[in-house]
Amino acid sequence: MLRIAVLTSGGDSPGMNAAIRAVVRKAIYHGLEVIGIQRGFSGFIEADMGPMNLGSVADIIHRGGTILRTARSEEFMTSQGRARAYANVERFGIQGLVVIGGDGSFKGAEIFHNEFNVPVTGVPGTIDNDIAGTDYSIGFDTAVNTVVEAINKIRDTATSHERTFIVEVMGRESGCIAMTSGLAGGAESILIPELEYNLDEVCDKLYRGYKRGKLHSIIIVAEGAASGIDVSRAIKEKTGLDTKVTILGHLQRGGTPTAFDRILASRMGARAVDLLMSGYRQHMVGMVAGEIIACPLETVFTVKKPIDMDVYNLAGILSI
Ligand code: F6P
Repeated sequence: MLRIAVLTSGGDSPGMNAAIRAVVRKAIYHGLEVIGIQRGFSGFIEADMGPMNLGSVADIIHRGGTILRTARSEEFMTSQGRARAYANVERFGIQGLVVIGGDGSFKGAEIFHNEFNVPVTGVPGTIDNDIAGTDYSIGFDTAVNTVVEAINKIRDTATSHERTFIVEVMGRESGCIAMTSGLAGGAESILIPELEYNLDEVCDKLYRGYKRGKLHSIIIVAEGAASGIDVSRAIKEKTGLDTKVTILGHLQRGGTPTAFDRILASRMGARAVDLLMSGYRQHMVGMVAGEIIACPLETVFTVKKPIDMDVYNLAGILSI
């Protein structure tokens, strides 16, 4: 293998740059050439790509976002789009592709591999942490820390005013950010898309807390479970409590990656190069029980990552 390419795709996540850096530098260490593809699969189709060297990835390990830019490409979903991308594989002499992104990006990569037999390796990069086959995806830890920092600040004003705050966090299909930041932030209730919830029970718990003298309450709502505004309105109506809502939105996707995410990204990016060099053709790198592993890409689509009920239940018990 002489030349590989790397792209970032889907929603960005803090630590993607550290992963790009690891791919480029590990590949160069082994004597490979690296092509950087801009704007994900869109740039793959449009031939928006060029060679990367050691200097291309200097001074990025601490930066959020992705220097390669990212996109969600409709055209890559079509066979014509993928054929155009394959023409660029031939034109640029690409012998392996590293895709840093989420499950949608991996699906595209797998179809592309099946059609054109180009070896692909996935590196899980999404704040949602909803990818089966890995305990952690790049960016999740940073996003959780961002949410916890926000909860800390909200707590200050919530206490002063004796208010209930609804904090809406990201996670269209996954409650992982909500659940983890809810435990770390001491939230009274956590609403996630994977579990049914009952607003009357949420309100009863709020009432019990206020009777015991609690000055404030924090309820975390994953965007995929409900709209924070709707939950806030309903709680206000049911309880009469002074209720406010904060929607954290896309700020959860930015910021300097935590040390955990930088290390995870560095290890995963480097292993992705190893996999391609060792002849793996259709795998994703993951971290399971602290070890960096390889799992077949199809795991991502055939297995739904379960939420950790121990964590969810513990958050409920501790915020009684
Ligand atoms: O990165 C994942 C995610 O943050 C989801 O939690 C969210 O629903 C989605 O991306 C929103 O992304 P965009 O606004 O870029 O479409």
